[in-house]
Amino acid sequence: MTSANVVKVTERDGALLIEMDNPPVNALGIALRRGLMAAFERLARESALKGAVLTGTGRFFSAGADISEFGKTRENPLLPELIAFLEDLGKPVVAAINGQALGGGLELALGCHYRIAAPAARMGLPEVKLGLLPGAGGTQRLPRLIGVERALAMIVTGEPIDAAEAKTLGLVDDVAEGDLIGAAFRLLEGAVARGVRPPRTRDREEKLAAARADSGLIDRIAEPLLKRQRGLPAPRACVEAVRAAVTLPFEEGLKREVELFAQLVNSPESKAQRHIFFAEREAAKLPDMPADVRPREVNKAVVIGAGTMGGGIAMSFANFGIPVWIIDQDHESLDRGLARIRENYQITVSRGSLAADEMEKRLARIHGTTDWSVLAEGDVVIEAVFEELDLKQRIFRMIDEKARPGALLATNTSTLDVNKIAAATSRPEDVLGMHFFSPANVMRLLEIVRASKTSFDAIATAIAIGRRIGKVPAVVGVCDGFVGNRMLHRRTAQAERLLLEGALPQDVDQAVVAFGFPMGPFAMGDLAGLDVGWRIRKARGTKAPISDALCEAGRFGQKTGAGYYRYEKGSRTPIPDPEVERIIIETSKRLGITRRPISAEEITERMIYPMINEGARILEERIAMRASDIDVIWVYGYGWPVWRGGPMYYADQVGLGQIEARLKHYAETLNDETLRPAALLSRLAAEGKGFSSLPVQPIAI
Ligand SMILES: NC(=O)c1ccc[n+]([C@@H]2O[C@H](COP(=O)([O-])OP(=O)(O)OC[C@H]3O[C@@H](n4cnc5c(N)ncnc54)[C@H](O)[C@@H]3O)[C@@H](O)[C@H]2O)c1
Repeated sequence: MTSANVVKVTERDGALLIEMDNPPVNALGIALRRGLMAAFERLARESALKGAVLTGTGRFFSAGADISEFGKTRENPLLPELIAFLEDLGKPVVAAINGQALGGGLELALGCHYRIAAPAARMGLPEVKLGLLPGAGGTQRLPRLIGVERALAMIVTGEPIDAAEAKTLGLVDDVAEGDLIGAAFRLLEGAVARGVRPPRTRDREEKLAAARADSGLIDRIAEPLLKRQRGLPAPRACVEAVRAAVTLPFEEGLKREVELFAQLVNSPESKAQRHIFFAEREAAKLPDMPADVRPREVNKAVVIGAGTMGGGIAMSFANFGIPVWIIDQDHESLDRGLARIRENYQITVSRGSLAADEMEKRLARIHGTTDWSVLAEGDVVIEAVFEELDLKQRIFRMIDEKARPGALLATNTSTLDVNKIAAATSRPEDVLGMHFFSPANVMRLLEIVRASKTSFDAIATAIAIGRRIGKVPAVVGVCDGFVGNRMLHRRTAQAERLLLEGALPQDVDQAVVAFGFPMGPFAMGDLAGLDVGWRIRKARGTKAPISDALCEAGRFGQKTGAGYYRYEKGSRTPIPDPEVERIIIETSKRLGITRRPISAEEITERMIYPMINEGARILEERIAMRASDIDVIWVYGYGWPVWRGGPMYYADQVGLGQIEARLKHYAETLNDETLRPAALLSRLAAEGKGFSSLPVQPIAI
């Protein structure tokens, strides 16, 4: 890619129109930076040129740095130099922000002398989400434009703002309805006519005055922002960089920003976050998918079952503008489901995160019915009825009869064999699993389950749907529990054993939270309800002695005010309960187990390593295509801390030799065969390699 290809420069009325054209997102890689530098140099050189308008083609002004260049030696000009040159040009440059201006893209716009945005433009500095900070002057220039308070919020959370807010804050000079480029040239003409030296953002000091006058202000603003970020280094460094904008001269502030950036870019947290950024994009790529496969067109959806999952899935479609029909077996279940959807939306409205009229628009896209003939309407049909194979097969026979040819037919089953469900139809090539996570309108993970006869274009369609409704799709194979729940199951088994051997629920939960999960397994169990698993175990004839004992005592979790913990009325805060301790100690005794003190280290290892081991088996069986797909599943579906990069990435950092040794130790001392290291884990450990060394493999079908 040459600079000339990615930067288009045209002359217009004695000024330049500079267009960034580096699809898909105008990432500021070396070719684009060189092209921009050449355009700015021309502007400086040719005295007849009075200024320039800088814009992007497509939906992006620019999404910022080319992340694949991080951690490598980057070629000149670097973005900070480019922006410094632009800011000092002495001729006005207007940023015409046509779409998203993120990270380095926004920093480039901050270096321009004027900014005008299209109404749909969004602006943000999301570097913190990759464990970084804006390293091209963003932390020094943004507070000068919009003040310390709002700049800190944008930089520490990474959340973007829209054009209207940007105008109110002074981040842009204007919002242009209609012809953005025309409006940008008028702004340029006005500036030229006034004949003043183009204003440099670096010189603007007035919005820093409040923080300069009050030395405690930054910490007071930062405290609540940092609290939500769990002591990670990047958000703290963001605050320090903004502090430098206030306390140091501009050039010194820039130096401080560069220093802090250099520390972060080499931090394990940022490396892990960047790993997930790339892994997320890979997880929906099939190595065996022919290049010419295209997704089918999807305009309408049908969901069967208006329960917890069906309701959330329908909301996901409605939230992204896709009309959806929900079918349930009777009016009572249907009405209950629809009422719950409305209630869920109302909670969001009352929290201020959704406008009431937007709620009505979304609700208007959801149609409830008990009339199965609407099956013919769906380009995609998603089944979310009770978890019973016979029932699901019966439903799929009906779908087969009524759905239109070419419709994608998906089941949301969490445990059943998708092949057996597909076999109930005459078109198994159209059938796959779309495994959403609860609450389905919130959780981003979507496991797409490829069955043995699923066609490539059906998979491509499921991926496209997932992306369209804001999910992160990961394609997996058929097995009990698929990838996520199958691994979770190993953790759950160890958690229960730890209680029997000597730990209490709060010990286990604390270790898991200290590792970085938002919640431990027992608090999570109480939230989800313990009775579900109890019923499944009773049906299967299996046991989980402590969970069973709690259920027998009527402790089903939060919904009954008691489970592994007790709950005050109306509160979701788990409180350790002596009654639970009594039940646990009694159960250990009844089973003849001598309780012992268990260290936090042992708890953590037994919560994490058996899952990694199961991940290795999943790779052996080709249920997952890549180790990094497993990481994506755990980060987006189960709250694995993103700054630890997912279980398989984490395993590579610890070293597979160490993990293998600990698993062997536990398998032997606890006499637990499920903890025997998987063959793949042992082989890689012996070779001194990590999971990341494995090549991508097609899913076994
Ligand atoms: N709850 C979870 O966390 C979760 C997560 C992922 C997947 N799943 C899977 O999603 C599916 C649904 O689970 P759920 O938690 O929403 O269950 P649910 O009990 O809340 O809802 C099931 C709904 O299906 C309806 N239904 C039952 N038989 C029907 C029929 N013959 N025709 C039409 N509708 C019928 C019921 O009336 C009910 O409204 C299950 O396969 C489950 O394994 C659940």
